[in-house]
Amino acid sequence: METEEIKKKDSKYIMNTYGRLNLVSDKGSGCYIYDKEGKKYLDFLGGLACTTIGYGNNEVASAIAKQAKTLIHISNYYYNEQQVILAEKLVKLSGLKKCFFCNSGTEANEAAIKLAKKVTGKKEFIVCKGAFHGRTHASLSATWKEAYKKPFSPLVEGFTFIEYNNSNAIENAINQNTAAVMLEPIQGEAGIIVPNENYLKEVSEICKRKKILLILDEVQSGNGRTGKFFAYQYAGILPDIVTIAKGLANGVPIGVCISNYEFEKGNHASTFGGNPLVCAAANATLDYILKHNLMKNALVIGKYLISKLSKLKKVKKVKGKGFMIGVEIIGDAKEIANKCLKKGLIVNGVNKFTLRLLPPLIATKKEVNEAIRILKQIL
Ligand SMILES: Cc1ncc(COP(=O)(O)O)c(C=O)c1O
Repeated sequence: METEEIKKKDSKYIMNTYGRLNLVSDKGSGCYIYDKEGKKYLDFLGGLACTTIGYGNNEVASAIAKQAKTLIHISNYYYNEQQVILAEKLVKLSGLKKCFFCNSGTEANEAAIKLAKKVTGKKEFIVCKGAFHGRTHASLSATWKEAYKKPFSPLVEGFTFIEYNNSNAIENAINQNTAAVMLEPIQGEAGIIVPNENYLKEVSEICKRKKILLILDEVQSGNGRTGKFFAYQYAGILPDIVTIAKGLANGVPIGVCISNYEFEKGNHASTFGGNPLVCAAANATLDYILKHNLMKNALVIGKYLISKLSKLKKVKKVKGKGFMIGVEIIGDAKEIANKCLKKGLIVNGVNKFTLRLLPPLIATKKEVNEAIRILKQIL
């Protein structure tokens, strides 16, 4: 189809949830995507943190093709070798004991919320202002932004919002009905908010002392993006439940709830969750990240990117860790992101004054320099 026909049919046949930007994607390679006219774009949003190891990765493509030729799907009534291989890897990486597989971040958080209710027998959650946990009912109830929630009330009861990066606020909010505290180790949608160094440790100690669970949502910060596989590993703590999704299978839909606790048979389920195809893609992605030392790359090149961004005009502050970066700017972030797009750089305005960069973990100084060159022209 031609570019204009795709645009026309998109608005005719697809529900208007996204407000598309002006890019009709055709193909991708490494850190780049190409539109239908062959124009090249440097994707420093990494498919919204999903294209962890870049577009068109041969190893992931081969793993998917090999798996697709034999068994794309098998119901969760039966054993599934790829799922077992992936679960063992995630257990070792997380330090937790068991995995539940689903298909997205919001589903992983739904699983976490249900699991916390089931384990504690309690129904209330302490969540943070600015938080984003997804669009299904319970995850949306744990999400801060009123505009996302208002049309869908009543939502799930029992979510109390407190200030992020303030452990006293958590201590004060706990009561006898509290099942868990749920938060992002680095807030993503709020504008890349990195808490104080001691915050997670303090929260973890409070949860232990008060005998409530700690759920960490690493849907955006996980999968090696911050330089460690899970951002909580910087704090030297272990949550009771952690959720990941986005880039675990390099763009094939997956979500995982990992915990020291578990459901009982029949408590929870997902038809597609952890099917052989997605697990083969995730296994190949994880192997690639580890083989090529990409977490270290994200940290080292991330520092380089942050230092370059800090020197740009109209930049007030650069926040983040590894390849999870927010740039507070003077000007309208969405407008600037649109100008970047025209010049072949993909970033996004996560709020009015913050540009967000989530490059694929394979990005090198070369791509960073290219991004900085474009940003320099615009800022
Ligand atoms: C921290 C966090 N949690 C949950 C989600 C929801 O993930 P999904 O869109 O895969 O449901 C997101 C998505 O941006 C996220 O950033």
